[in-house]
Amino acid sequence: MKQKIALLGFGTVGQGICEILLNKKEYLKEKYNYEFEFVAVADFAFGSVYNPNGLNIPAMLEEAKAKKKFTRDLTTLDNVSLITKCNADVVCELTYTDLDTGGPAIEHCKAALESKKHIVTSNKGPAALRYPEMKALADKKGVKFMIEGTVVAGTPIINLVEGPLAGCEISKIRGILNGTTNYMLSEMEKGMGYDEVLKVAQDLGYAEANPAGDVEGYDARGKVTILANIVMGASMKINEVPCRGITKITSEDIQKAKDTNARWKLIGTVENKDGEITGSVSPEMIDLSHPLAGVMGATNALTFTTDLLGDVTIVGPGAGRIETGFSILTDLLQIHNSSCNCK
Ligand code: HSE
Repeated sequence: MKQKIALLGFGTVGQGICEILLNKKEYLKEKYNYEFEFVAVADFAFGSVYNPNGLNIPAMLEEAKAKKKFTRDLTTLDNVSLITKCNADVVCELTYTDLDTGGPAIEHCKAALESKKHIVTSNKGPAALRYPEMKALADKKGVKFMIEGTVVAGTPIINLVEGPLAGCEISKIRGILNGTTNYMLSEMEKGMGYDEVLKVAQDLGYAEANPAGDVEGYDARGKVTILANIVMGASMKINEVPCRGITKITSEDIQKAKDTNARWKLIGTVENKDGEITGSVSPEMIDLSHPLAGVMGATNALTFTTDLLGDVTIVGPGAGRIETGFSILTDLLQIHNSSCNCK
């Protein structure tokens, strides 16, 4: 049976997952017996559309690329009514992240879960601010609350911890958690100016809707909070995490680091010391001989310190249209695999 999908948000990630699913349609059918239909899309810029029998996504992608509003299957339903009334099995919450209030994504997630629809999201708001509540509601309704895309785009972090690393106790997680700032620091080292490189990061789809979230460290702080609460079982509040971004790092600082065989990186840390779990985000000067120093561009890297394996490091893309789109694909496939007799 086709998985019916509703998308909240048709920006970088929303368009990314559409492109992936359209391009890999045959492969996904052949390899996983996975078929899909997009039935609803709501976006504040392009409008809201609903067709229980399936939308014309290629035409909508063209309209979005031309910065035109949607023209077919228009609906006047507000987002929460659309989520509740549509015939989707899965709602992908891909609207902009608001780490102060979590809105409107929290309302979207609650409406979906209440009406027994799975949630797949790359939005850090609900995961960083309300994970226990969302997970409990999903469990109660017999559906899933899937958040792989909230930490390091499609590079598997949540799935790694819940799957292959299950059984290991993790005492520390440390690494580069924000693609935009790592890209900026890499390019600034080559001589590009701060404002210029931030604009490029936005054009490449790395930065948050409000890039202050990246450069002030708030995006990394959201991820630290998610990791602390989900991986280490903490009850950490986002505002309890000390956080400093890269806004005060100047070209002179970068040159000084270079002169001492070092490099600036924005480092996020979560640590469990005798049951006390703490988190932090701050720029650190890393010696060039350290593995994290070689991680450049929008690439992220995280080292998990475990009891059974010692250190396990994963390196991969931390941002981007297709890279984050993939996080949605992997969660959609997990939902499909858990509810069918697949190949
Ligand atoms: N703006 C984020 C980053 C996107 O640059 O890492 C992924 O969360």
